[in-house]
Amino acid sequence: MGILFFLFALTLTLSSLSSSVFGLTQDGEALLEMKRGLNDTKGLLSNWKDTDINPCNWTRISCHLHDQRVRVINLPFLRLGGTISPSIGKITRLHRLAIHENSLHGTIPAEIGNCTELRALYLRANYLEGGIPTELGRLSNLIILDLSSNSLRGSIPPSIGHLGRLRFLNLSTNFLSGEIPKTGVLGSFGNFSFIGNLDLCGPQVQRLCKGSLGFPAVLPGHVNDDEAVPPRRATSHYVNGVLIGAMSTLGLALFMLLSFLWICFLSRKGKLGKNYSNIGKKIDQDSGTKLVTFHGDLPYSSDEIIKRLESLSEADVVGSGGFGTVYKLVMGDGSAYAVKRIDRSRDKSDQMFERELEILGSIKHRNLVNLRGYCKFPTAKLLIYDYVVLGSLDYLLHERECTDQPLDWNARLRIALGSARGLAYLHQDCCPRIMHRDIKASNILLDENLEPHVSDFGLAKLLVDEEAHVTTVVAGTFGYLAPEYLHSGRATEKSDIYSFGVLILELVSGRRPTDPSFVKRGLNIVGWMNILSRENRLEEIVDKNCEDVDTDSVEAILDIARKCVDANPNDRPAMNRVLQMLEEVVMSPCPSEFYDSQSN
Ligand SMILES: *[C@@H]1O[C@H](CO)[C@@H](O)[C@H](O)[C@H]1NC(C)=O
Ligand SMILES: *[C@@H]1O[C@H](CO)[C@@H](O)[C@H](O)[C@H]1NC(C)=O
Ligand SMILES: *[C@@H]1O[C@H](CO)[C@@H](O)[C@H](O)[C@H]1NC(C)=O
Ligand SMILES: *[C@@H]1O[C@H](CO)[C@@H](O)[C@H](O)[C@H]1NC(C)=O
Ligand SMILES: *[C@@H]1O[C@H](CO)[C@@H](O)[C@H](O)[C@H]1NC(C)=O
Repeated sequence: MGILFFLFALTLTLSSLSSSVFGLTQDGEALLEMKRGLNDTKGLLSNWKDTDINPCNWTRISCHLHDQRVRVINLPFLRLGGTISPSIGKITRLHRLAIHENSLHGTIPAEIGNCTELRALYLRANYLEGGIPTELGRLSNLIILDLSSNSLRGSIPPSIGHLGRLRFLNLSTNFLSGEIPKTGVLGSFGNFSFIGNLDLCGPQVQRLCKGSLGFPAVLPGHVNDDEAVPPRRATSHYVNGVLIGAMSTLGLALFMLLSFLWICFLSRKGKLGKNYSNIGKKIDQDSGTKLVTFHGDLPYSSDEIIKRLESLSEADVVGSGGFGTVYKLVMGDGSAYAVKRIDRSRDKSDQMFERELEILGSIKHRNLVNLRGYCKFPTAKLLIYDYVVLGSLDYLLHERECTDQPLDWNARLRIALGSARGLAYLHQDCCPRIMHRDIKASNILLDENLEPHVSDFGLAKLLVDEEAHVTTVVAGTFGYLAPEYLHSGRATEKSDIYSFGVLILELVSGRRPTDPSFVKRGLNIVGWMNILSRENRLEEIVDKNCEDVDTDSVEAILDIARKCVDANPNDRPAMNRVLQMLEEVVMSPCPSEFYDSQSN
């Protein structure tokens, strides 16, 4: 017995010695423990070995640059079985955990709450059971949380609402139940974050909760068999005869009152509803406030929209563009919109202004930001757009904290391609054709899949005086303007192409068109490229933060950019030609690989 204990103690000492003196880092050990939990029958993780010093060279792992702590675990689409080990909680500097589309079972370990630097957590499409751990509420840096398509049960912990930076949430297709908490950000997600669950209720899914605030989906006295709301169920078991009598009288009164209100509501809705069935129908209010919705794209009553717009405050500001402040508007059903408040506009009659807005509102394309409506208050003009969750390309390329994962090469190619699709549509397929006039990274918005949506098209024409334009453009725009546009102030399709070329250079180099590194030498990004090209050092233009660059596509895409920024406007290709060339770069090498990495 004593000897056994001695041996045991010896082994312990030795193993702790080995791991502290020449062994694997703690993160590495934690990953090996994870690997033991995963059923890696295909041996995909065979180079995860305890003989290494750190795990930074292991497949599908990447580390922070300086301290060799694990930053990314990327294991999606591998048909891994097994469970997620609680040792994940030791990898405390983790930023991205992507183990979606596998065959994992077991529960989500609460220890994940220890990984407080986590930005993105993808557990989608596994067989995970149990509840959503409350501890996820500790992940205050989380931007993306995708738990969809698992077998999660129970209610949604209110702590999720405290994730102030969360921009994408998907809890769809699980067995979640109960009321969706209204705390914090949880109020800002719409039904697509919650669809396909057993029994969720709340305004986000347009389902009133039984027993909450009196909607008599279940009449009092009826045994409420809803698993999800245990306290209420307890009361209905508890009722005695007297209570039943009192409650059903009360219930009947309540029911009649509510029916009356409901009928009032319906008849009112019918009246307003008519307005929405028409395209671009205007609704006049007495107060000089006027709301126009395009294509019935805002399924709310004008009263509700106006009320919500009026309640926008500083706290809702999400940015400021060249033309004014941008707010996030959240409607009662949880859907979010971006509201652009126009600070200045040229003297145009309201009629002309609205006519042109209506044209912009009629343009629909998956790579364009949808303009849904317009509201004129006596003091302000507001444009209502779709809300695009990840924000602008400018932000993602330049403004994020340096510890965040930079956009990878494939993402950049896809952003170039999608933006080109949107612009080609404006230039070639719209009637009338639309020049954008203000193409720049801050006008390319990215959704949760990093799919680009071009915004603000046509606004420059609408809001800025032609003659005064060049002097009034905001400083951030200069680097994108074609030389002939700067001279004449006249925008053409070819000046849009130039700006798009600059955008490509920005994507490849990760530098703003007016980056100090070349501006102090009297160059802009185009001049810098020309010099590098002349000196045969063009490969230096590529963003050092972008790890998975492949040289073939760099050359091809720089070639496209070079054509776009040709000094002679007549030599620049048309947008549909640019699109065609980009498609060749992005799609031709190996489309299946392209789409695989897209979902990673
Ligand atoms: C990682 O791999 C590179 C090249 O394969 C090698 O030079 C480096 O020493 C390895 N680092 C570790 C920590 O194993
Ligand atoms: C691992 O996967 C294999 C094949 O998919 C299966 O037969 C085995 O039972 C699994 N083992 C565990 C521990 O899940
Ligand atoms: C949580 O993090 C702390 C500090 O890094 C660590 O000591 C602890 O073991 C972690 N807890 C779990 C359950 O992994
Ligand atoms: C989601 O909500 C919108 C209105 O906001 C509605 O039109 C749509 O049918 C809902 N979708 C589902 C799947 O419930
Ligand atoms: C969430 O996932 C479901 C199922 O995978 C999907 O249908 C839905 O569109 C997703 N929601 C969002 C907001 O992406």
